Amino acid sequence: MFDFNFYAPTRVVFGRGAEKQVGRLVSETGCKKVLVHFGSGSVRRTGLLERVEQSLRQSGVDFVELGGVVPNPRLGLVCEGIELCKREGVDFILAVGGGSVIDSSKAIGYGVANEGDVWDFYDYTREAEACLPIGCVLTIAAAGSEMSDSSVITKEEGLIKRGYSSDTCRCKFAIMNPELTMTLPDYQTQSGCVDILMHTMERYLVREDTMSLTDGIAEAVMRTVMENARILKTRPDDYDARAEVMWASSLSHNGLTGCGGDGGDWASHNIEHELGGLFDVAHGAGLAAVWGSWARYVYKARPERFAKFAVNVMGVSPLENDGETALAGIRAMEDFYRQIGMPTSLTELGICPTDEQMREMAEKCCIHGKRRVGCVIPLDADDVEKIYHMAR
Ligand code: NZQ
Ligand code: ZN
Repeated sequence: MFDFNFYAPTRVVFGRGAEKQVGRLVSETGCKKVLVHFGSGSVRRTGLLERVEQSLRQSGVDFVELGGVVPNPRLGLVCEGIELCKREGVDFILAVGGGSVIDSSKAIGYGVANEGDVWDFYDYTREAEACLPIGCVLTIAAAGSEMSDSSVITKEEGLIKRGYSSDTCRCKFAIMNPELTMTLPDYQTQSGCVDILMHTMERYLVREDTMSLTDGIAEAVMRTVMENARILKTRPDDYDARAEVMWASSLSHNGLTGCGGDGGDWASHNIEHELGGLFDVAHGAGLAAVWGSWARYVYKARPERFAKFAVNVMGVSPLENDGETALAGIRAMEDFYRQIGMPTSLTELGICPTDEQMREMAEKCCIHGKRRVGCVIPLDADDVEKIYHMAR
């Protein structure tokens, strides 16, 4: 067990109609002007944006709008947002959308609150000292950005997708109405479920043991997500299932399932981020496509941990030895991904990277020899390249 520092400062306002409280929550922060930041159209189509802005007006909150965030959010719009905030004297950012919108908001927040080029943080050349305060109205259960310390941005030049973490960007509040997620296409719902699972699996399938309480919480989160992802496949309007998944999204990535752990593996995430950068795939679907190959590549370094996962999460009966049980657990998770319509290979994901592209992604993933990814086995670019080939 490792020492830990658990910090979850986000106020969560959860339930039907919760977005009606947004005006009050923003005005209570005492800010003068808000940037309302959103994606490529869903919040206009569903009428959510209008309801949010109405609530702001009723509370006397002054705001400007910036839409157009795309999945795998881009640095170009972040820079536009920074300029807009400086010009308009914005001192609070309200993200209305999913992980991409919240991440774009966090990056804008860094850019306004710190001098210099915001990409420096994502390039790991310096640390952010501050971030504008951020609140969110969440519309998809997936990335966990509503309570996490992370944001992931793609730089158009070189298609480099990078994550940066700092406690300064954690949302002041997160408004979560599970009903808002009912307009999601099934593919996005299920992709989100994979991401939630993976945020817990990254912290569970690790080199060193954590705490049994942490393992128990993590196992419950994972079983809950699987059970409710199956329900949502046939009953997308099931409020209770939406609620279970939405809360799991936050709990899986606010640090709770990592307490006492070694920080998590995160190789699958880093391997996927390159796919997102180069091929613009949905993040969760990309994770599903590479996870099995990663797991088969590393499980022998920690067969008992993978076997525990197989038995306690996937419901596998223990086999002759931990290695066999571990493999049965990996197969069971892949079967689950197929059941919910998620890919288990790059081909099923709909992409066909060339050998050169696989090498390029592996090099970028390990920042050209500057880092290894993962802790079960710390992987270099050769390892990562092999995993891309296995995932074909
Ligand atoms: O842009 P709009 O029109 O809103 O459409 C979005 C988008 O196309 C749509 N959508 C969202 N809510 C909807 C809806 N459509 C209908 N009804 C609704 N209620 O769904 C699509 C995906 O949205 P996005 O925000 O991209 O999804 P997600 O939350 O999965 O975020 C993915 C991004 O988060 C990053 C990923 O890498 C990816 O860039 N991550 C961020 C993390 C963090 N900050 O802690 C951790 C994660 O591991 C992840 O890397
Ligand atoms: Zn993720």
